[in-house]
Amino acid sequence: MDDTGAGPVLILGGRSEIGIELARLLAPGATVVLAARRAEQLDDQVATLREAGAAAVHTTEFDADDLASHGPLVASVIADHGPIGVAVLAFGILGDQARAEVDATHAAAIVHTDFVAQVSLLTHLAVAMRTAGRGSLVVFSSVAGVRVRRANYVYGSAKAGLDGFASGLADALHDTGVHLLIARPGFVIGRMTQGMAPAPLSSTPDQVAAATARALAKGRRVVWIPWALRGWPVVRLLPQFIWRRMPR
Ligand SMILES: NC(=O)c1ccc[n+]([C@@H]2O[C@H](COP(=O)([O-])OP(=O)(O)OC[C@H]3O[C@@H](n4cnc5c(N)ncnc54)[C@H](OP(=O)(O)O)[C@@H]3O)[C@@H](O)[C@H]2O)c1
Repeated sequence: MDDTGAGPVLILGGRSEIGIELARLLAPGATVVLAARRAEQLDDQVATLREAGAAAVHTTEFDADDLASHGPLVASVIADHGPIGVAVLAFGILGDQARAEVDATHAAAIVHTDFVAQVSLLTHLAVAMRTAGRGSLVVFSSVAGVRVRRANYVYGSAKAGLDGFASGLADALHDTGVHLLIARPGFVIGRMTQGMAPAPLSSTPDQVAAATARALAKGRRVVWIPWALRGWPVVRLLPQFIWRRMPR
């Protein structure tokens, strides 16, 4: 059981660079649960969070693509550690856009992980948090979903769907004691984007985590990272013949 009173911090995608950086900031005095594939291979992440001051760090096996496992996972975290304080949905895949354009199975797999699985987990978590009357959800959207680009339309469309779902869910949770934060980073220099040339207004996982933790503490609904990207929706006004040529 979590005896801090704040409830455990659950990181779904417990090996995510952004997720671990955020967990480090939320760790002091907290019980942290890392849910990931190959949960027995999380020693580095567990050590990092202990060093960051976590009261306890637990690991649990989690495959986001296995939708039937989501309900039992949420229930077992609550049974073992009490009502969840913060749940961070940090899992995701970029996928291979060129392959996804010709391989329907790959296209559907990207959307399954980045949209369908997120919808499933958010629904289970929201129901549990509403029952408890408290808790915070952190959703990682992306500027890629604000206006979908030709160059990454499969990943971008999943993020667009996720962003829309999360916006509606945030409104549904208004006045329930449950809070949902939508983080919209731009290009993040890290494992997911390895080998790609950084786009303008890039950030790093620790910068994304710091901005997200600040927004969470303030109870904000949306955070753009970097903050300058809050003007990004203006790209909706660009004519299609220009937008079509935009790099990813
Ligand atoms: N990096 C960027 O440029 C960027 C920009 C905007 C938004 N975001 C979003 O931010 C979130 C975190 O990204 P990140 O940069 O931290 O990426 P990351 O370091 O690549 O982490 C993503 C994690 O998702 C996990 N994952 C993928 N499929 C999974 C599945 N089926 N079941 C369980 N776990 C699964 C991976 O687990 P394994 O270790 O098992 O492979 C990996 O640890 C993602 O939603 C991403 O789309 C990232």
